[in-house]
Amino acid sequence: MPIITNIEDLRLLAKRRVPRMFYDYADCGSWTESTYRANEADFDRILLRQRVAVNLENRSTRTTMIGQEVAMPVAIAPVGLTGMQHADGEILTALAAKKFGIPFTLSTMSICSIEDVAQATGNHPFWFQLYVMKDRDFIERLIDRAKAARCSALMLTLDLQILGQRHKDIKNGLSAPPKLTLPNILNMMTKPRWGLGMLGTQRREFRNIVGHVKGVENMGSLSEWTSKQFDPSLSWNDVEWIKKRWGGKLILKGIQDPEDARLAVESGADALIVSNHGGRQLDGAPSSISALPEIVETVGSRIEVHMDGGIRSGQHVLKAIALGAKGTYIGRAFVYGLGAMGEQGVTKALEIIQKELDLSMAFCGRTDIRTVDRSILLPGPH
Ligand code: GLV
Repeated sequence: MPIITNIEDLRLLAKRRVPRMFYDYADCGSWTESTYRANEADFDRILLRQRVAVNLENRSTRTTMIGQEVAMPVAIAPVGLTGMQHADGEILTALAAKKFGIPFTLSTMSICSIEDVAQATGNHPFWFQLYVMKDRDFIERLIDRAKAARCSALMLTLDLQILGQRHKDIKNGLSAPPKLTLPNILNMMTKPRWGLGMLGTQRREFRNIVGHVKGVENMGSLSEWTSKQFDPSLSWNDVEWIKKRWGGKLILKGIQDPEDARLAVESGADALIVSNHGGRQLDGAPSSISALPEIVETVGSRIEVHMDGGIRSGQHVLKAIALGAKGTYIGRAFVYGLGAMGEQGVTKALEIIQKELDLSMAFCGRTDIRTVDRSILLPGPH
C-alpha cells in the first residue's frame, strides 16, 4: 500500500482500482480538454505572499457557506455516477463529509437515491443538485423528495441542458450498470475489490430516476439518455418556478460570465458557483479561477460567490478564497479518494486539503480563514 500524501497519490490508486469506463468518466474533459487542464494549471500563475514572525497559534479554517457552518470552505460537488466509482459511493461520501463537517451535494444523476442518502446519514442535512428534464412532473416530485429528505440547499445546474462531447465516454460505451461486453468484463476482472463491493449492494442504477420516470427502466448510454431527457429549453423563467416550488436556499451552478452573474442576482438566488463544469462542457472557455475575479467584482457584494474547477489542493482553495470566493467545491479530488479507498479515502482527501490549506494560510501570516483576502497574493495577472 503506497503512502498517501497528496491527491495525486489517491488518483493513481483510484486508476488501478476503478474500472476504466468510470475512472475515465471522472478524469476527462470535453473535446481537447484544454479548459479541463487550464482549471488546474491556472492556479500556478497566482503567487502567494510569504510573511514571517507572525504568531501562528490557534489557527482556524472554519467559516460559513450560505449561512451554514463549515469546517473549511470546501463542499463536496455533485458528481454523477459516484456510486459506480465505489459501491454505495454517495452514501460513503456523505458519511465522510458529515463527520468532517462540510456539505455533501448529491447529484440528480447519482446511483444512491435522495432517500438512500437521507436514511444512511440519519437525516443529516445535505444539498441536492437538480438537473431539469422535459418531464416537469418528475422534476416537481424530485424537488418535493429533496424537501422531504430535509435537504438544506438546492443547487440548480445551468450549464448542462445539452452535453459536451467527452471522447472517452463514447469510446468506452459509458453506462450504469456497465454493459457486459467482453472488454468490460475483462477490465472488471482486474478490479476485484470494486467487483466484490458491487456484488454486495443493490444500488447499481440511477436510483433517483429509474422507477420514478415513466418509461425509464434502464438507461443505455448516458449521452443518449441525456439528449433525450434533459430539457434544452431551460431558461431564467424556470429558475423562478423552481425557486418558488423549493422555497429554501438556492445555489446556481455554472456561471462564467458577469452578465449571467447579474441575472443570477436578479433571480434572488443565495449563491452562485463560478464553474465550467470541470471543463466537461464548453471546451475553450476560460478556467474557473481566471473567471472568478471579474464575477466577484461585479456581484460579490450582492450574492455569495462560490467556485469549482481544478481544486486538487488546499493551496487552490486558499487562492480562490483570496480572490473573493466564499466557498469552493471538490469533485475529482474526492472521487479519487473514494475510488482508491472508499469512505476512508474521501476522509483522507479532506484531511489532505485541510492540512494544505491550514499550513499555506499560516505561511501567508494568517490564522483565520475569514481574514484571508487579496492581500495574501502578490500582484499578478489575476
Ligand atoms: C454530468 O454532470 C457530467 O459532467 O457528466
